[in-house]
Amino acid sequence: MTVGCGGLQELKRELEVDPDEMKRIAASFQREMELGLEGRSGSLPMLSSHVGSPTGDERGDYLALDFGGTNVRVLLVELRGEGVYREKQRLSVPLKDSKAGYDLTCCVADGGQLFDFIAEKIGLVATGEISYRLGYTFSFPCCLLEPGKAVLLRWTKEFSTRDVVGRDVGELLQNALRRNGINNVQLGAILNDTVGTLLAAAYQDKNCDIASILGTGHNTSYLEKNKHWCERPVIINIEAGNFDKLKGSRYDRILDENSENPGRQLLEKMVSGRYLGELVRIVLISFYQEGLIFGGNWGEAFAAKDIFTAKHICRILGDESRGLKVIDEVLHKDFSLIDTDLEERRLLRDICGLVVERSAKLAAATYHGVICHQGFPCGTERTIAVDGSLFEKIPFFPVFLDAALEKLRENEGAPTRMRLVKDGSGIGAAVAAALAKN
Ligand code: GLC
Repeated sequence: MTVGCGGLQELKRELEVDPDEMKRIAASFQREMELGLEGRSGSLPMLSSHVGSPTGDERGDYLALDFGGTNVRVLLVELRGEGVYREKQRLSVPLKDSKAGYDLTCCVADGGQLFDFIAEKIGLVATGEISYRLGYTFSFPCCLLEPGKAVLLRWTKEFSTRDVVGRDVGELLQNALRRNGINNVQLGAILNDTVGTLLAAAYQDKNCDIASILGTGHNTSYLEKNKHWCERPVIINIEAGNFDKLKGSRYDRILDENSENPGRQLLEKMVSGRYLGELVRIVLISFYQEGLIFGGNWGEAFAAKDIFTAKHICRILGDESRGLKVIDEVLHKDFSLIDTDLEERRLLRDICGLVVERSAKLAAATYHGVICHQGFPCGTERTIAVDGSLFEKIPFFPVFLDAALEKLRENEGAPTRMRLVKDGSGIGAAVAAALAKN
């Protein structure tokens, strides 16, 4: 069948973020940041982490808990000083497992069950007579009252576990540790994953003062040094995913209306891996309804919400074969679509490309907003640490991001470099525990 180009051209217009628009978004992001810092209501809560930058010379063994997605990790990390660290032990466990018959991420489970499960896993790593200090990365919007006390403001991503919102997640963990007879673990610090990524990167690189997660969720933190806003330098968790000053297309509106948290996390829904696949699926349904793709072949293939994921986008954009054979295989195996023609497969690839490119441009625009807020110290190179599957695995994502940042560069002397910091949230938790001790 012949696919209509009108559809793709129109989609391009709808998802286009040109350099002027990126600048407008950056300025608006900066304004929202400053509103948040002033404590006035806006979409960016600007949550203080109570920690500044590490020296890179923090030392010792620390336990790290990384809780931010469906897999919880417990690590034992050795900080050796001079920016060197080593992971000595790692345990990764899913919080939901249909085969084993449990799901602690949804509202069927409550906070007690969730934290008992986590405490038990901590116990498997914190063995022997040794005392451990724990850095605890909890990657959801929290109001951090003091280093070991953080109240969950609301769940994001796929979580809806009962009896956790509004509670101190430090206390919930400590009670669970006690209930499970684990008395050799002392809670040192609670932090967000972006803060952890920034700490892990800054432990090695003094030029790093912004960190971002581009994975299932999306968020950014940065080092605030301006005395107008803080007495001493402190890392601020922006909760950037909640930024809501974007126009959004009709596809974004459909996605938001059918999401678990309508009206919330609007930037995250346009940028992060949790939502990009769903966005492509919504576009595909609209193209199909207009007779632009998959004709009689459609069936129920894409009918179910969330059936199309960032993993599919990854494979589709990575297909370099002449006949787009990988895409053919994906459509056949995962969606039972046979006999698609090359034009349709190209169209699908282009749709994925447009959704991903817009995601990168939006993220870049917000980074520029942060940089403008921080100011441009003369001639200093700046590093943005990034972690997450989108940045690491989606073909072209870093290229789109770099190109967008380059377009936005104006008065900055030296360029901004992006650096992948894998597992930053775990290492950063250890660094935060060391900072809290000092
Ligand atoms: C969500 C959370 C945020 C976290 C981000 C990345 O946006 O609200 O706290 O940093 O996901 O995991």
